[in-house]
Amino acid sequence: MKVTVVSRSGREVIKGGLELSDSATVADLQEAIHKRTKKFYPSRQRLTLPLPPGSKERPVVLSYKKNLKEYCDGNLGNLTVVFKDLGPQVSYRTLFFCEYLGPLVLYPVFYYFPVYEFFGYKGKRIIHPVQTYALYYWCFHYFKRIMETFFVHRFSHATSPLSNVFRNCAYYWTFGSFIAYYVNHPLYTPVSDLQMKIGFGFGLVCQLANLYCHMLLRNLRRPGGNGGYQIPSGFLFNIVTCANYTTEIYQWLGFNVATQTVSGYFFLVVATSIMTNWALAKHRRLKKLFDGKDGRPRYPRRWVILPPFL
Ligand SMILES: NC(=O)c1ccc[n+]([C@@H]2O[C@H](COP(=O)([O-])OP(=O)(O)OC[C@H]3O[C@@H](n4cnc5c(N)ncnc54)[C@H](OP(=O)(O)O)[C@@H]3O)[C@@H](O)[C@H]2O)c1
Repeated sequence: MKVTVVSRSGREVIKGGLELSDSATVADLQEAIHKRTKKFYPSRQRLTLPLPPGSKERPVVLSYKKNLKEYCDGNLGNLTVVFKDLGPQVSYRTLFFCEYLGPLVLYPVFYYFPVYEFFGYKGKRIIHPVQTYALYYWCFHYFKRIMETFFVHRFSHATSPLSNVFRNCAYYWTFGSFIAYYVNHPLYTPVSDLQMKIGFGFGLVCQLANLYCHMLLRNLRRPGGNGGYQIPSGFLFNIVTCANYTTEIYQWLGFNVATQTVSGYFFLVVATSIMTNWALAKHRRLKKLFDGKDGRPRYPRRWVILPPFL
């Protein structure tokens, strides 16, 4: 089979095309492209079927596990694919590890080291119990996220663009330092003992619930499977589509009830709005995938992220 590889502007990317066996898969084609153009390793390549000129439709993305013949549409000897360079990639695990390592390391710096001297506070710093518990709570949260990244999540995509590492690290590292600065500040005023206990207690329960939600999501995919989407069910997923985000938001609420800083509440608002947007998209995707037609199950009625509001 002859495969012609063109760019989106129609220019030939591999001069003279590629000759592959009739049983070749998309993954074989990606390997063959990589052999001819060392820079474009398979996860950097996005291969689609060409669209008729002027078409506004979305192109069909070639799935690496499928046989090339499935995309030939009658003409088995010839196939033209459109190549797009996705840019340098990193694995999802690397991305998540980098973004979570920042807050895990930076927060204790504000607690243990005399950082505030650089900001002009020369007096002795008294550490309140709530600041110590906040440190444990914070570190447990980010340690848990790193462990989940390596041992729980089953991602659908192997890689993400390298540029996301810089964007996501900027978000997590800046917010982590911003919150740590105020919670550990020498002029920090602690909340009442009861409020602290309610906040951390509630937050901890939500963190454990969040871990359980991630384990339920993990079980929706087989190890080494094709990364598709299923209807999440069990525990809070019977009521809300993105129960993992719900518990994430509530655990930050618990942290903020206990520590009560403007920076912490500001982060809660930003994180909630980001997760709400993602949750709306995930809810829409599941409703579209499970539309109750042609034997497909119908997605049950559920809240999106924050019952009883959304
Ligand atoms: N504080 C913040 O600002 C913030 C923001 C975002 C996330 N987080 C935390 O980080 C965690 C992970 O975030 P995330 O956005 O990666 O979560 P996510 O997409 O909802 O899910 C986590 C894992 O489950 C998989 N999954 C989700 N729905 C599925 C379904 N219906 N069928 C099969 N697999 C499914 C995902 O696969 P895919 O690889 O296909 O997505 C992903 O590997 C969150 O749950 C939350 O605790 C915090």
